[in-house]
Amino acid sequence: MNIKRNTGVILALDLTEEKLAIDLVRDVWEDFDAIKVGLPLVLNCGLDMVKKLKSIADIPIIADFKIMDHSLIAVKTVETAIDAGYDAVVVCGACGPTVISRCVKAANGKKVFVFVEFTHRDGLLDSNIANRSARLAKESGAYGIFAPGTKPERVKELRNIVGDLIIACCGIGAQGPEPGSAIKAGADFEIIGRAIYETKNPKDAIMDIKGIIKKVIK
Ligand code: XMP
Repeated sequence: MNIKRNTGVILALDLTEEKLAIDLVRDVWEDFDAIKVGLPLVLNCGLDMVKKLKSIADIPIIADFKIMDHSLIAVKTVETAIDAGYDAVVVCGACGPTVISRCVKAANGKKVFVFVEFTHRDGLLDSNIANRSARLAKESGAYGIFAPGTKPERVKELRNIVGDLIIACCGIGAQGPEPGSAIKAGADFEIIGRAIYETKNPKDAIMDIKGIIKKVIK
């Protein structure tokens, strides 16, 4: 399932209580193009959260476990996530070419995003490693990359490397950058969590964000 750009926003669902997560998704899923589920939710509520989410939200669900291991373990993790029902997985580019290409194969047509660079400034994946990871994503048939929305100049450089691959950016909102800023720099999607689910009224928050991003998307 491709992630179709409608609103340009992917929900980062990093809540740890099942009821809160389900209630939020029920209220707002139609305002998003996909949902990114990470370890905080899955470790607290189980891998099968994907089935519960899919029963209420008709959009792709991305398993963001930032897989970083040797091929055998990375592939087993990809297969486990895909078998559970996730539409996409995230693998760290620093794993290198063999792991990335085996994960793409293991995903069996489901999507693989390559995580290339942290949004926080003291992350140790420097631009050299990130650029190599982005090239790997391109060469291995991955669907896209996770790039840092806090660094628009890097998003531009990474776009030049990955061409028409999907670029999804974290770091918007709670970490400072305005909604729309990563898309302006060349991303396809902005992944936003706390700026929505930590507000008093998440529906209002996403409506505001959608309004801003709509002006940026051509
Ligand atoms: P927010 O901040 O919108 O987070 O709640 C959404 C997603 O962004 C990722 N995230 C980070 N990634 N450095 C990173 O490289 C960070 O400091 C950071 N903070 C958030 C995380 O995957 C989350 O789901």
